Amino acid sequence: MLGPKWESALKRGFILILLLVVIALAVLRGGFLRTELVAQESSEPVESTASGSVADVKVHRRQDKDGYLGREVCRECHAANYELHGMHGHAHTFALASDEKIASKFAGRNFDYGEPYGNYEYDQDEEALSVRLSGESEESFPLQYALGSGHHAITLLSLAKDAEKGTVAYEHRGSWFRDRDRLGRTPGQPLTTPESESERFGMKHVDNVMQKCIYCHTTTGTVADQKIVGLTANVNCEKCHGPGAEHVRQARAMKEPPPFSVGSDKWDSESEIQLCGDCHRLPEAITLKELRDYPDKLARFQPVGLLRSQCFIESEGALRCTTCHNPHRTISDVSKSEHVANCIQCHQPGKSSHVSCPVSTTEGCIKCHMPKYDFESLGTGFHDHWIRVHPED
Ligand code: HEC
Ligand code: HEC
Ligand code: HEC
Ligand code: HEC
Ligand code: HEC
Ligand code: HEC
Ligand code: HEC
Repeated sequence: MLGPKWESALKRGFILILLLVVIALAVLRGGFLRTELVAQESSEPVESTASGSVADVKVHRRQDKDGYLGREVCRECHAANYELHGMHGHAHTFALASDEKIASKFAGRNFDYGEPYGNYEYDQDEEALSVRLSGESEESFPLQYALGSGHHAITLLSLAKDAEKGTVAYEHRGSWFRDRDRLGRTPGQPLTTPESESERFGMKHVDNVMQKCIYCHTTTGTVADQKIVGLTANVNCEKCHGPGAEHVRQARAMKEPPPFSVGSDKWDSESEIQLCGDCHRLPEAITLKELRDYPDKLARFQPVGLLRSQCFIESEGALRCTTCHNPHRTISDVSKSEHVANCIQCHQPGKSSHVSCPVSTTEGCIKCHMPKYDFESLGTGFHDHWIRVHPED
């Protein structure tokens, strides 16, 4: 038996431990509450704070940890970048098709694809957007997600169950194009004989192609069981900078938080080209023959061109995407003279160490050395980032 002294000591010890547990629980709960609030504050249509690992897709340095907070949290201390990013295509490249801004571009309209698919008619009821084949059957096909900001185009995507493949995605065959506010054929889809009723509505994507389509247009999310698990829509701050929880915790605790993301010693031109090239395409995404021949269509893949440019090769890491692009600011906001200023920081006669132009040293650099190629099927054009003297100049 323990003496009375021991008993009271044990009791005090027990009370102390109980107190500590209660405090710890309160602190943890406070933390959880904060993240819940963050999720509610967010104005994004389909954002959640949950995160998913991108199984099957190239594993990502930036996505291997939890701790995603959502872009609203960054606003508190980085208001300027937050405002800019809000106008960039990156911030609007994924939405629900039922979103009013999306649905209104399709609902009540029709688009005749012709053979072998048919005439599409779009309806919106209560919450969902759907499409059916006009004059053939009343059965409608649900349209779930919208990819693309609509700066140029919007393409719809639906997940469905497939007997063989489990979850598959149907990329709808009709897209909306900003030029002339029209519905037209979705680019990149070969005409094939539909093997099922669903394939009359969309091109079927499976496995990695389906995952990658979501991957490039979202911050986090993986397809499983006809759903996107852990979805944070759009290419947000944390897609490029990595999960922000630890940075925000440190920034709240001290005035000068330790280096983070692009501030770290390891961040250089190579990391940046890998980052942007992950979605805008690196040479590894192109066939060797295409790479050798460099047809005009490679202009669409800016990193591929830039890596060939003497400006890049001979400047020993001084040239990268952000030499000419503020990654937070939409390109449609940048004036011609700003583009020229980007060139002449290196090509100004007398002032810079590099060669200068015998034709013009003050204007027109882009139209001669980075001409724009139109990609009619995509409803837009791309500037050839292989900066060079073109034979026709
Ligand atoms: C996770 C994929 C991803 C990454 C990483 C990425 N982008 Fe993009 N980018 C996109 C997508 C998708 C679009 C199309 C946006 C839309 O729907 O309008 C786009 C569009 C753009 C545009 C044109 C749209 C506009 O409003 O200006 C520019 C310029 C651009 N990206 C530059 C960059 C640069 C520079 C980097 C690297 C710092 C980068 N991107 C990294 C996916 C990505
Ligand atoms: C490897 C990354 C990647 C994949 C995979 C990808 N996209 Fe994109 N997407 C981009 C980038 C980068 C852009 C910016 C313009 C460009 O390069 O065409 C873009 C642009 C778009 C646009 C035009 C947006 C606008 O208004 O400018 C649409 C629509 C689109 N993608 C739909 C899709 C759909 C649907 C899929 C899947 C079936 C898909 N994308 C797969 C990276 C990707
Ligand atoms: C497409 C990728 C991308 C996205 C999306 C993005 N950033 Fe950045 N950010 C970068 C890169 C690359 C740099 C480095 C720029 C440089 O070296 O000039 C950078 C730099 C920064 C910096 C330090 C320099 C500065 O401008 O103050 C801050 C802070 C920052 N980003 C915050 C944000 C916030 C907040 C968001 C979301 C609202 C965001 N970023 C979205 C790529 C991105
Ligand atoms: C409580 C304030 C606070 C919040 C919230 C915050 N940051 Fe920061 N951040 C800072 C401070 C302070 C710095 C260092 C000084 C600077 O560059 O502005 C910084 C720097 C950065 C840098 C540059 C890093 C470097 O080492 O040069 C990036 C990138 C960045 N923040 C991204 C983000 C992103 C993304 C979010 C949202 C997930 C975010 N920050 C939220 C305070 C904050
Ligand atoms: C970071 C510095 C840098 C920037 C910015 C830059 N260049 Fe260059 N550029 C170079 C270097 C280095 C060379 C190789 C010749 C030399 O050393 O002077 C070069 C070469 C060239 C050449 C000759 C290419 C060839 O194949 O012979 C052209 C044309 C050119 N640049 C145009 C431009 C234009 C147009 C811009 C703006 C869109 C630009 N550059 C931006 C550094 C730069
Ligand atoms: C030497 C300057 C320079 C560099 C470096 C540069 N860009 Fe560009 N970029 C431009 C110019 C100029 C435009 C055309 C702007 C306009 O008038 O619309 C452009 C346009 C774009 C567009 C819009 C679509 C298009 O092609 O017109 C994207 C996306 C883009 N750049 C991505 C990138 C990426 C990713 C990198 C890095 C691999 C990069 N850029 C490096 C100058 C540059
Ligand atoms: C009207 C078309 C045109 C415009 C505008 C133009 N260039 Fe050129 N550029 C050329 C041609 C053609 C050559 C090749 C000249 C030659 O080899 O005699 C050239 C050559 C160059 C070279 C390589 C010079 C060398 O010695 O190898 C650089 C660098 C260059 N331009 C940069 C620029 C910059 C920067 C601008 C904008 C301030 C610009 N160019 C505007 C057509 C143009």
